[in-house]
Amino acid sequence: MTQILKPSSKNLKLAAETIKKGDVVAFPTETVYGLGASAENEDAVLKIYEAKGRPQDNPLIVHVHSKKQIVRYVQNINKLQQKLINTFMPGAISIVFEKNDRIADIVCAGGETVAIRIPCNKIARKFIKYTNLPICAPSANSSKRPSPTNAQHVLDDLNGKIPYIIDGGNCDVGIESTVVKVKDNVVYILRPGKVSKMEIQKKIKCEVIDVITQKSDVVESPGTKYAHYMPKCEMILFNKNKVNNINKYYEEIIKNDKRAVIFCNTCNKKYYTGKNVVCLGNNSNSASKNLFNYLRKYEDNDIILAEVINNGTMQTALYNRMLKSASGNEK
Ligand code: TXA
Ligand code: MG
Repeated sequence: MTQILKPSSKNLKLAAETIKKGDVVAFPTETVYGLGASAENEDAVLKIYEAKGRPQDNPLIVHVHSKKQIVRYVQNINKLQQKLINTFMPGAISIVFEKNDRIADIVCAGGETVAIRIPCNKIARKFIKYTNLPICAPSANSSKRPSPTNAQHVLDDLNGKIPYIIDGGNCDVGIESTVVKVKDNVVYILRPGKVSKMEIQKKIKCEVIDVITQKSDVVESPGTKYAHYMPKCEMILFNKNKVNNINKYYEEIIKNDKRAVIFCNTCNKKYYTGKNVVCLGNNSNSASKNLFNYLRKYEDNDIILAEVINNGTMQTALYNRMLKSASGNEK
């Protein structure tokens, strides 16, 4: 049985001891819950892949508790990388570096680079500090399922497969970190997240390329090629003429005795009166916080009809996750 731990110092020490012994623990971050193990211990890392049912060619993000820790695990930090560290860490960003020998090869799927993240979440940082280890952690869901944004989601997916879940309540951001890589003085966004292209451009004053929307010679984040975040039911994303199209689809589905739910921007609720409708949020930021929770909560419908949400600073990141949840099915 998996035990849920309140985040007291005593429990965080117990969780840290569990990591030191070579086992895995799920813990909260401000983005999503992670399933952590020592990045120096290959057998421990294997337990992550096993619990999640995740392919081993997908590298893991290594979490540390302070900026000073980064140099212990990476080499040849360049000026632009240093600027990114100074500006955005701790936070919802993972930066790819050249790795050194302390990180087990399996963490990086055999590659020469490692993505490093310092979470903002204080519980996460305290727990990582107690371990005195680099903690590699993918999202703590079963492979392909929506990422977990509270302890119950982790329990639903991994009960019996891991010893402990540290309960830090609901995640503030709700979708995973922005993954960035620096090459030839350009920042490439491999996975969009809360730290947006615009914010990086504004604060770092450099060229930023989003590899999802623009072609580039930098390899995409390997994880982005897999099916992801899928609810158990079908989902369609509506971009153009959304209110009319959703209403038309909804009525067709109901006629066939099937159950549909509409995910909308809060300001559009009035257009779906009398229908089964859920407000995702009033902009992409609040909607991101709710998305994975609602995908799990409403997946017992036959179909989710979801609006693309075009306001707020997390539009690109939210759209990326919603499109994957819908398996690319967009109208
Ligand atoms: O917010 C997050 O990033 C969460 C929390 C737990 O920190 N973690 C997370 O991990 O989302 P995961 O394993 O689900 O996603 C890691 C992503 C994948 O898309 C993977 O391909 C990419 O980061 N990645 C990891 N290491 C990389 C590397 N060395 N080069 C390029 N992409 C890398
Ligand atoms: Mg994941």
